[in-house]
Amino acid sequence: MHTIKIVTIIGARPQIIKAAALSRAIRNTFSDRITEVIVHTGQHYDDNMSQIFFEELNIPIPDYNLKVGSASHGKQTSLMIEGIEKILLVEKPDYIVLYGDTNSTLAGAIAASKIHIPVVHIEAGLRSFNKSMPEEINRILCDHCSTMLFSPTQTGFQNLIKEGFREKNSPPYHADNPAIYHCGDVMYDNSLYFAKLSESKSNFLQDNSLKPDHYILCTIHRDNNTDQPRRLNSILRALYQISIEGNIKIFLPLHPRTSKLLSQNQDNDLYRKILNSPNFIIHTPVSFLEMILLEKNTTMVITDSGGVQKEAFFFNKPCIILRSETEWKEIVDSGAAEIVDADEEKIVVAWKRFSHTPPMSYPPFFGDGKAAEFICEELVKNSC
Ligand code: UD1
Ligand code: UDP
Repeated sequence: MHTIKIVTIIGARPQIIKAAALSRAIRNTFSDRITEVIVHTGQHYDDNMSQIFFEELNIPIPDYNLKVGSASHGKQTSLMIEGIEKILLVEKPDYIVLYGDTNSTLAGAIAASKIHIPVVHIEAGLRSFNKSMPEEINRILCDHCSTMLFSPTQTGFQNLIKEGFREKNSPPYHADNPAIYHCGDVMYDNSLYFAKLSESKSNFLQDNSLKPDHYILCTIHRDNNTDQPRRLNSILRALYQISIEGNIKIFLPLHPRTSKLLSQNQDNDLYRKILNSPNFIIHTPVSFLEMILLEKNTTMVITDSGGVQKEAFFFNKPCIILRSETEWKEIVDSGAAEIVDADEEKIVVAWKRFSHTPPMSYPPFFGDGKAAEFICEELVKNSC
């Protein structure tokens, strides 16, 4: 039987988690047809942003780690391109597999397409229509040099068509004749798969004095929220008000970017009040199983994360989005989430609204939990 070789690029936390779904499908169903070589760029490197997920989600240890670390966009991306190119020249894979929209994604797309290795983009077609976001640039550039584009949502698929991709190209596929698919979301696969396993972490709630349905889960890491003191303060003032008015706990597992900036940028009075408030639990980044447990038991999610917005939806929780737009349009259109940006008043109003009138429905926008199997099948089918 013909076996294909893929090189998977991961680097940032959400990519490590996403990759778990494809690695699982390969291990369970495609081990005789797909060999996977994993390259970690080292974009995220703290144990709780990287290592923890390999152990917990049973992801194979990366074959290569470029250990690029943190730097400016240009420097970080160029170091990754150089490192990935060297590996591709040695490994000579049939495909490079890229996830999402980070600098690791862009580096993989540039390195591979220049030496004619077909690019597979998982999470293709998503758009915020806001090019001031580094992620918007990364995902557009990656899509437009890809050979196989797997979109998790109907909106993403339609975005590709609007940008000139044809719905029904015929094989053989290549960068000038790419294939586009609407296949569901590998993160939905993961949430279904790990939801039950997360119960093994149930002590985590008690250990943090959290009662099911009596706390709000909040994450903040988007660069425009963390790096602009005015926006970060506005968000924190709203959270403080909610914690007092609702007499409710707020659990904040903080991305290292936010932890670092919080102490520098806070107007001291607000920061002190939050640190001293028994209703705020400021935590280091948690594991994926702990995160799923927190999402399943929260009353509501407040976040600027792409992944956490969707997971709120997967677990039927209302979500307040701390951004001015979202790539996950379906969840807002369905009424399960509201965009409030970093507007203090809008955040509080949305919290009140969702507290009194929770969303009615969570339609199945994200597939059937088998996106990873579908992707593997297509890779195998089209490599002959
Ligand atoms: C990156 C992605 C973003 C994604 C996020 C997921 C880009 C452009 N951005 O943003 O799309 O939503 O990952 O979490 O690729 N840091 C540490 N330890 C780490 C990692 C980061 O302390 O293990 C700190 C460093 O100070 C670093 C900062 O966080 O400068 C930002 O990290 P970086 O990877 O550049 O961007 P993210 O904000 O994590
Ligand atoms: N996540 C996690 N621990 C945390 C915060 C987030 O495991 O402390 C998971 C979360 O469940 C989701 C993914 O990380 O699967 C989202 O990553 P992040 O918010 O960093 O990036 P984004 O999705 O915005 O790119």
